Amino acid sequence: MAPGARRRVGILLRARLLRVRSAAGHVRGGSVTQAIDVSHVSKVYRRYARRRQFATLKSALLSGSLIRDLAPDETFAALDDVTVSVPAGRTLGVVGRNGSGKSTLLKLVAGITKPTRGTVRVQGRISALIELGAGFHPEISGRENVFINGIMLGLSKREIAKRFDEIVDFAELKDFIDAPVKTYSSGMYMRLGFAVAINVDPDVL
Ligand SMILES: Nc1ncnc2c1ncn2[C@@H]1O[C@H](COP(=O)(O)OP(=O)(O)OP(=O)(O)O)[C@@H](O)[C@H]1O
Ligand SMILES: [Mg+2]
Repeated sequence: MAPGARRRVGILLRARLLRVRSAAGHVRGGSVTQAIDVSHVSKVYRRYARRRQFATLKSALLSGSLIRDLAPDETFAALDDVTVSVPAGRTLGVVGRNGSGKSTLLKLVAGITKPTRGTVRVQGRISALIELGAGFHPEISGRENVFINGIMLGLSKREIAKRFDEIVDFAELKDFIDAPVKTYSSGMYMRLGFAVAINVDPDVL
């Protein structure tokens, strides 16, 4: 066998071995609990690259171009048949170039977006450090937002009350906690979102 061909086979085998190993915890090890199980997941985004679109809804309706103008130009697979599982108690790092699909994978695991194909299973309470403070309402106070955000993340009102001081201390927002969050700086907003996210005792962070 030529050295080049041998190297190719080696890489193929290694790839196969990796696949078997990553599936082993799931298939053979009955005692291994998968906290995250992503199976044959693809995520296809629609792309709207067209420059010329209708100016107003009325003009589109009159010219009959509404359906054509709202149709995506092309689709783009950000993730293509991805299978990965993370057992409880383990940390997984994903490294890749910009635009390779890392955030997309994270959003799928966090339930922010749904897969086009495949299944995503996550056991337990999830708290994602993306989209921090996404559920905050600008007009209401930091205090009320902590409660609402905590409830959205699966805590009861009593559980939040128990953690409240810790959250506010961590965010260093004691003096501002009763002000509407629209008056917060970006950093203050982020700190409050982060403090809530890590203080809800998530099973999957
Ligand atoms: N809502 C969307 N609509 C259309 N395309 C999208 C959308 N979100 C992401 N994409 C595309 O999907 C691909 C993956 O994006 P993603 O944000 O997952 O990359 P990433 O690995 O997190 O990159 P980075 O390292 O820059 O954070 C990119 O090509 C991006 O343009
Ligand atoms: Mg990203």
